[in-house]
Amino acid sequence: MTTAKRADQTPPPATTGRRPYPGPPPWAVPGLLRKLWGDRLRLLSEAADEYGDVVRFAMGPKTIYFFNHPDHAKHVLVDNAANYHKGLGLAEARRRILGDGLLTSEGETWRRQRRIISPAFRRERIAGFAGVVVDAGTHLTQRLAAESGNVVDLAEEMTALTMDVLGRTLLDADLSPLNFLGPAFEAAQEQAMFEMVTLGALPLWLPLPRHRRFRAARRKIEDAVRTLVGDREHDAGTEGSDLISMLLRAGSGEPDAAARWRGLRDEIVTILLAGHETTASTLSWAWYLLSRHPEAAERMHDEAVAALGDRTPEYADLTSLPYTAMVIQETMRLYPPVWALPRRALAADEIGGYRVPAGADVMISAYTLHRHPGFWADPDEFRPERFAADAPPVAHKYAYIPFGAGPRVCVGSHLGMLEATLIAAMVARRFRFEFAGAADPVPEAMLSLRIRDGLPVRVRPA
Ligand code: HEM
Repeated sequence: MTTAKRADQTPPPATTGRRPYPGPPPWAVPGLLRKLWGDRLRLLSEAADEYGDVVRFAMGPKTIYFFNHPDHAKHVLVDNAANYHKGLGLAEARRRILGDGLLTSEGETWRRQRRIISPAFRRERIAGFAGVVVDAGTHLTQRLAAESGNVVDLAEEMTALTMDVLGRTLLDADLSPLNFLGPAFEAAQEQAMFEMVTLGALPLWLPLPRHRRFRAARRKIEDAVRTLVGDREHDAGTEGSDLISMLLRAGSGEPDAAARWRGLRDEIVTILLAGHETTASTLSWAWYLLSRHPEAAERMHDEAVAALGDRTPEYADLTSLPYTAMVIQETMRLYPPVWALPRRALAADEIGGYRVPAGADVMISAYTLHRHPGFWADPDEFRPERFAADAPPVAHKYAYIPFGAGPRVCVGSHLGMLEATLIAAMVARRFRFEFAGAADPVPEAMLSLRIRDGLPVRVRPA
């Protein structure tokens, strides 16, 4: 995937701002569009291999400026973050699913939302969620024990688990009756990605099957939010410390009922999506990688047995699970759940000596940065040891950004890490998995990096 042709660690000098952009020639446009639709990871990886750290994709009316040096990531996400709004893909998702929720809102709205929501994600509060995570892990291991010797779809299991945890931690709700949400989110994201590639050329009122699917999905998501909010608006629920109650209190000053509902809906839909798919993706890819690396699976099992014995795990155990955390970190390097950090430049800018026009679609990708051969030895190899406490530090802070960086960095990172690590240890303590698919799983780069067609594995006792 990566070749020796790639640039070294030195970014181009930031001097002229007039360097001609490397990039595919105009006649490559049809192929580029096909890949933008069918295999976005390959599009970016091959371009980085071919052209280096800066690539301009001129695709007719759409031009994407792809910057793949960690210094570029730092510039866009941190140093000059104020000049960049969420772009490509996220912009469509904003229009179609997420509205003005925390992930896609901007400016003052975003600042206010982040202020409101942050207390729900404080480290001490997250630590208190360990019990719920462990409880969900216990149910999972019981289900898996009943399937010993059988093939199960672990990706589906991970999605159900993370949805359950999200409901019982942040939302104080039982999400199990809402198990249609997974497919509904999938259909909604699919539509957002389709509109990104087609530039929204097919209006939603056209009676296409995909539009019908999308509308049905959006209705289901809205209904789910209505169910969740239920009558908390009118009862003592607003006193609660869960996120829905916090949001209800924060919105109570808004006199326009429709605007109040929209604000609440967008925020809850955002949390539902951002809070479960990412962690589910991390765990699913971890199980796949471990099934291909039995020595790592065994080491993780040994660590879990030594740290946890037969007892119920608790928050304090996290410090005794360093190898498990390394496996999670390495998984997120190879398969970052948020594979792309697309942005739109508000004003003209200069990145690494290249002029970026106002309105430009700028692409930073965790997937390609995490496999940049200038910063990672054997970048495509699974080696949890890279993250060992005594290993050399990552070559560049911004060559590893699974949770993003700068003001828009993930609010849920502690919860995500806590959940992924505890669940991985609980499962590895009792089981190992044999990959049972006919071919290697294919990553599907939607808003998060999913496993296309699930993760069939045979369950074995460890
Ligand atoms: C392994 C798990 C997770 C990963 C890898 C992850 C990754 C990310 C990344 C990369 C961003 C930045 C996106 C950007 O800059 O465009 C982000 C933002 C966000 N994440 Fe996570 N996330 C994870 C878990 C969670 C969880 C558990 C929640 C919450 C319930 C959550 C909620 C959010 C929200 C609300 C934002 C938007 C923050 C803002 O713009 O202010 N994430 N996440």
